[in-house]
Amino acid sequence: MISTNIQAACQILNNNDLVAIPTETVYGLAANALNEKAVLKIFTLKKRPAYNPLIIHIGAIEDLDKWAKNIPEKAYLLAKTFWPGPLTLVLEKKAMVPNIITAGKNTVGIRMPNHPVTLSLLKQLNFPLAAPSANPFMSISPTTAVHVEDYFGHKLPMILEGGPCEKGIESTIIGFENGTPLLYRLGSISEETIEKICGPLGRVKTISKTPVAPGMLAKHYAPKTPVILTEKIGTHILDTYKGKKIGLLFYENTTYNNTAYTIEILSKNGSLEEAAKNLYATLHRLDGMKLDLIIIQKSPNHGLGKSINDRLERAAKK
Ligand code: TXA
Ligand code: MG
Repeated sequence: MISTNIQAACQILNNNDLVAIPTETVYGLAANALNEKAVLKIFTLKKRPAYNPLIIHIGAIEDLDKWAKNIPEKAYLLAKTFWPGPLTLVLEKKAMVPNIITAGKNTVGIRMPNHPVTLSLLKQLNFPLAAPSANPFMSISPTTAVHVEDYFGHKLPMILEGGPCEKGIESTIIGFENGTPLLYRLGSISEETIEKICGPLGRVKTISKTPVAPGMLAKHYAPKTPVILTEKIGTHILDTYKGKKIGLLFYENTTYNNTAYTIEILSKNGSLEEAAKNLYATLHRLDGMKLDLIIIQKSPNHGLGKSINDRLERAAKK
């Protein structure tokens, strides 16, 4: 049920049940982060593997050191600069954070989201909210309440309505090694913007079969319809798939005009912010059109364009 009733959402969460919440990035599937039974419901509903940790959402910067310890200076600097906002910090966890949240790791992902409805909700609760994106494992993240309803319907006690998500792509995730910040996941704050505050970002080396941040799984964020990602949509690629029912997704305005294809544009005037905001909703729409194939043109590879291309590459992965 989609509702704007924050009080009712509080009650459901206090009863250790699930509520989908709006954030500035994507909708989250939230539960009381301190209650293992509640958190388990998230894993079950999403069909998410237990090795994939959840991030916790807090309502105030001051709460950061309730859940994390040995916090590097640069983590405080980033939190002060970007919170509330689309930045997740992966930090050493305190014992009170249940192991089910962190998938047994000794680190926990924490962020303070920037959405008035969810901030108000968090202020009324006496626990943080564990919340992954509110989509089944591997599929496209939801940026409207209706996307969440289409995925989970009556299996979810409540979806808190907060309008379409402002940013449209998940938070940027930063971890630390000896106080040095590392980029775990590209996201709604560009790498360049973060580096202006804390200097160069290191990269994560994958050392085991389970990736450090499983959001970095090769295939993810994927429509059911096959996707092809290309630098440029031209006659060559279209001829290759002649006879198929095809959707074309352009990053910016195009003079290409052929009624044989469904054409979608992420941002008519080529704004990366607007393209990011529209990305998932456009993929949801194309995926609902019973097409044989979606052909997508890459975004320019700088700033938020890198985050958009990161998601598109995972969507197109076979
Ligand atoms: O914008 C967002 O971050 C959204 C909204 C709802 O806040 N949430 C989100 O959660 O994208 P999720 O679970 O879909 O993606 C979080 C990613 C996962 O890939 C997970 O593996 C990684 O964060 N992560 C969580 N805790 C971690 C940890 N301790 N170490 C490494 N990666 C972690
Ligand atoms: Mg997700």
